Amino acid sequence: MGTLENKVAIVSGAAQGLGKSFAERLAKEGARVVAFDTQAAINSAFNGNKNIKPLIADVSKRLDVEKVIATAASLGGIHVVVNNAGKWKKTPVTSSWEQAVADWDEIMDTNFKGVMLLSRAAVPHIIKSGGGDIINISTYYVLPARSDGTNPPDTDLYAASKWALNGFTDAWAKSLAKHNIRVNGMCMGATDSPMLRGLFPDKQLPPDMAATVMSPDAIAGQMIDLMRDGRTGENIGAWVGHPIGLPPRKAAHLRMTD
Ligand SMILES: NC(=O)c1ccc[n+]([C@@H]2O[C@H](COP(=O)([O-])OP(=O)(O)OC[C@H]3O[C@@H](n4cnc5c(N)ncnc54)[C@H](O)[C@@H]3O)[C@@H](O)[C@H]2O)c1
Repeated sequence: MGTLENKVAIVSGAAQGLGKSFAERLAKEGARVVAFDTQAAINSAFNGNKNIKPLIADVSKRLDVEKVIATAASLGGIHVVVNNAGKWKKTPVTSSWEQAVADWDEIMDTNFKGVMLLSRAAVPHIIKSGGGDIINISTYYVLPARSDGTNPPDTDLYAASKWALNGFTDAWAKSLAKHNIRVNGMCMGATDSPMLRGLFPDKQLPPDMAATVMSPDAIAGQMIDLMRDGRTGENIGAWVGHPIGLPPRKAAHLRMTD
């Protein structure tokens, strides 16, 4: 029997990349999964996997989120939310005012507001189900002690959106512990996905990156390990060129940024 037999999970941004692997792995562990995305490709992403219910929905839109939550709740409560949907783009601080305001809406609505909408709508259901997990998909950008100055300088809004998630992860972990709900961030480096490939000509990873890039399935395995482990309020890194696993638990003051 899988870890998540009789549980219901929600994954945002699941048509491709990391989200697709998260949904597939959760289903493999026995969960019934609501996997949603703005792209119609979500409908054919899982080849009729009977444990995965695909939905077209935008995590930044309240009514869409309510539809996702109602669908998941009808499957037998809600136990797991993976806040995966995210947008990456360059937003140089020297770009035009109009561009900056448009970029703010595009990035923050999905990467930050979407996490708030989906999680807050899910929390009453997770409490009713007796507990569960909220996983916020972040980035190694928020682990400065280990990223060693490698964060790009011109993705300020993307970086800010992921730092903002630290506020949710930290506060929700504390306030929801009494309801048996764990809240953690996952902070991976380069992972092979359409988002990453979109940064390069012809979507080809440079040879040095192709040789070392992490696989979404490996990160999905780390997510299951994290849920089994039972810790809360931590950001868990995954580093190119290093084994993907769970680090030792950290002291409270280092949990988010070390
Ligand atoms: N790939 C990496 O190297 C990497 C590294 C660190 C963090 N991340 C994070 O992992 C997450 C997934 O990244 P990925 O590389 O798989 O990206 P991706 O672009 O390949 O996939 C993201 C999916 O989210 C969907 N999406 C975007 N906005 C949405 C919205 N408003 N509502 C619903 N769905 C939406 C997209 O349509 C897409 O299918 C993101 O949060 C990203 O910031 C990725």
